Amino acid sequence: MTSPLTAPAPVDPRFDRSAWWRADRFGMFIHWGAYSVPARGEWVRSYERIGLDDYRSAVDAFRPDPDFDAWARTAADAGMRYAVLTAKHHDGYALFDSALSDYTTATVLGRDLVAEFLAAFRARGIKVGLYFSLLDWSRPDYPHFGDLHHPMRDAEEFRDHAPDLASYREFLHGQVCEICSNYGKLDVLWFDFSYSGMGPAEWGASELMRIVRELQPDAVLDNRLEGSGSDHGSLLTDSPTPWSGDFTSPEQVIPAEPIVDVHGRPVPWESCLTLNNHWGYCRSDHDWKPAPVLIHRLVECVSKGGNMLLNVGPDARGRIPVESRRILARIGEWMDANSESVRGCGPAGLGRPEWGRWTAGHGKLYAHVMEPPVGPLVLTGLDRDQVRSVHLLSDGSELPLVDSWTVVGGRSRAMVSFGPQPEWTYPLPDPVDTVLEIELR
Ligand code: GLC
Repeated sequence: MTSPLTAPAPVDPRFDRSAWWRADRFGMFIHWGAYSVPARGEWVRSYERIGLDDYRSAVDAFRPDPDFDAWARTAADAGMRYAVLTAKHHDGYALFDSALSDYTTATVLGRDLVAEFLAAFRARGIKVGLYFSLLDWSRPDYPHFGDLHHPMRDAEEFRDHAPDLASYREFLHGQVCEICSNYGKLDVLWFDFSYSGMGPAEWGASELMRIVRELQPDAVLDNRLEGSGSDHGSLLTDSPTPWSGDFTSPEQVIPAEPIVDVHGRPVPWESCLTLNNHWGYCRSDHDWKPAPVLIHRLVECVSKGGNMLLNVGPDARGRIPVESRRILARIGEWMDANSESVRGCGPAGLGRPEWGRWTAGHGKLYAHVMEPPVGPLVLTGLDRDQVRSVHLLSDGSELPLVDSWTVVGGRSRAMVSFGPQPEWTYPLPDPVDTVLEIELR
């Protein structure tokens, strides 16, 4: 009989659609588009008040020659099981072919980059998703003057600009219909984002959901048709809207506690994080997060019942920055030996031990030891008689339970030592995160 400790908390059947996604736990986010040319991040038009005509030089200079298979290999080698590409970001320049717009790489370059991305990642068995911006700063019918984010929000020449939301909704729905119709089965749809003044009513969220669910009934959706990185939306409430999505999407942060609804029931969530501090390529941003930190954050997400979507921002040539590739390769080395303690895992209900984190899954417990003990390692929360066996996950070697006079009441505690002498102190087999596979009686 599986111990309640080794079976992650049950998730409400309304979230069944995301069962595969919750098992995969770790994905690649890809922010890529014409904004890679200015190389100052994907919000460059908004932050620098760049007009549509002035941005054209970036669009015309965006002539990448990506090796999508290399991207897919980088994701697969990192242990990522799904990938989400920005099909269109807030600048409105689409990487897919659209009958509704010539502002696309299909028209300008003669390349449907979304189609190429999907083919390459599917070929490597990676599930695929598309990010689609609800905002579109290229559209004349989108709010300009006075909008919270539009590049022309405080430009006098747009003071009298009148948006046409009905027209914009027709365009928005039309393009969503295109990406949901023309590219096969999408595993994830990642809408971004609602904000004051532009929300479900303005997006026509009800009709948008009808289109999405008719064409892509199994696609896992985020919550940003009504929410954002700082607003969960109605998913945690007693009355989620039809557009509340399948998961909440904390951004650049990992929640302090597992995300639960008003009744304390787990709600799927995914922290999306950048490798430096920009989503889109930023040449000057060299503040890369070290791989060990990201391995710890990935385990933290899983220990709290969440996923991690880790971002790369390819440059204008279509290359993932070498620093990003190095970090992901190092994460992949750890995942290669320890992914069983991440995939198909979730919270163990044992609290947070001083030495690291607990995860549970596959009828087992996984102790993620990130801090080396002095003397034996006490498996906090477990009594000796609960434990059937302990093995090092990376090589399957046995770690027998030990006793030590140094630990008061040691006989009843579940303890292991990383060397022959429990009273001695040994280095961790993996100084970043040594994972112990624990089977209970
Ligand atoms: C924020 C950023 C947007 C990015 C998204 C990813 O909304 O503004 O550029 O695509 O986060 O979560």
